[in-house]
Amino acid sequence: MDVKEIRAQALKKIDELHPKTDRDLAELKTYFFGKNGVLTGLMKSLKVLPPEQKPQVGKDINDLRVELAGICAELEKDIHRIAIEQAINSQELDLSIDRPEHAIGSVHPLNRVRRMLTDYFVGNGYIVYDSPEIETDYYNFQALNVPPDHPARDMQDTFFINDNILLRTQTSSGQIRLMEKYKPPLKMICPGRVFRNDDDSTHSPVFHQMEGLVIDKNVTLCDLKGALDGFAKFIFGEQTQIRFRPSYFPFTEPSVEVDVSCFNCHGKGCRVCKNTGWIEILGAGMVNRKVLQNCGIDPDEYHGFAFGMGLDRITMILCAINDIKLMWENDVRFLHMFK
Ligand code: DAH
Repeated sequence: MDVKEIRAQALKKIDELHPKTDRDLAELKTYFFGKNGVLTGLMKSLKVLPPEQKPQVGKDINDLRVELAGICAELEKDIHRIAIEQAINSQELDLSIDRPEHAIGSVHPLNRVRRMLTDYFVGNGYIVYDSPEIETDYYNFQALNVPPDHPARDMQDTFFINDNILLRTQTSSGQIRLMEKYKPPLKMICPGRVFRNDDDSTHSPVFHQMEGLVIDKNVTLCDLKGALDGFAKFIFGEQTQIRFRPSYFPFTEPSVEVDVSCFNCHGKGCRVCKNTGWIEILGAGMVNRKVLQNCGIDPDEYHGFAFGMGLDRITMILCAINDIKLMWENDVRFLHMFK
């Protein structure tokens, strides 16, 4: 038996087969190392050799096994490298092709207004308080001095989940939750979504409000006026005036409706202010004694003012949007107008 001879044959076989795929390589490996393979045959023939030749021939066979295994490993690497190169080359990358334009989003006008107002109030020492959208009748109505069957409930017809649980109709519920949780002095805004059974071009079943509440000793209606005057000037411009009109809310006494002078015509009368020179922007008042009592605050020691505004309405006024639905439709052409 001549191991050298067999080695020469094996190398020739590699040349002949020249494996190009995993399958070719598997065939080659079987030819060398399989049950009836060359090396197995060599090992079998080792048995019949005279004992003195066995160590050397055994070593030669083993060297050959190592050599052939190394060659197979190299061939395997080549096969995989070539397969990857072919896959890349067959993809026909065209680097000159135009990519589709990637639309970059923008801040929704409503969010922009909410952030702007939040920044203003936070800059004036208010905290931002988050209150639940799903509320109990108590927080949304009763604690705010709106008992069951009170006629003021009609203005805020809402979505009841059961007799006691509803989607909040106003962020005023946040006032109660805050006052129950923290001791005065308090200064907070509570922005958020509210829900009512309303639907036309200026009303949507879902809209946004921002509540404000200040509780301290010796707070007066003048403080309310000062706070809202600063706010109105910040939002609508330095020349803006505000006026209070008497109104009614069960949770404030006295209550006022607040108008700002028209930022568009400065009081002369135009389309924005419906020729009145004034734009109504929010409701406000001095916190009703009963509301303070409901929250365990002594109304003889502490007073407060509250205000609540519709963020959608303020956004519509500022951005000259005439249909509230536009803010919900997610039409990118509309959103791009406010980039
Ligand atoms: N919650 C009232 C509404 O939704 C708005 C409001 C009015 C809030 C007067 C107040 C307030 O805090 O004092 O119509």
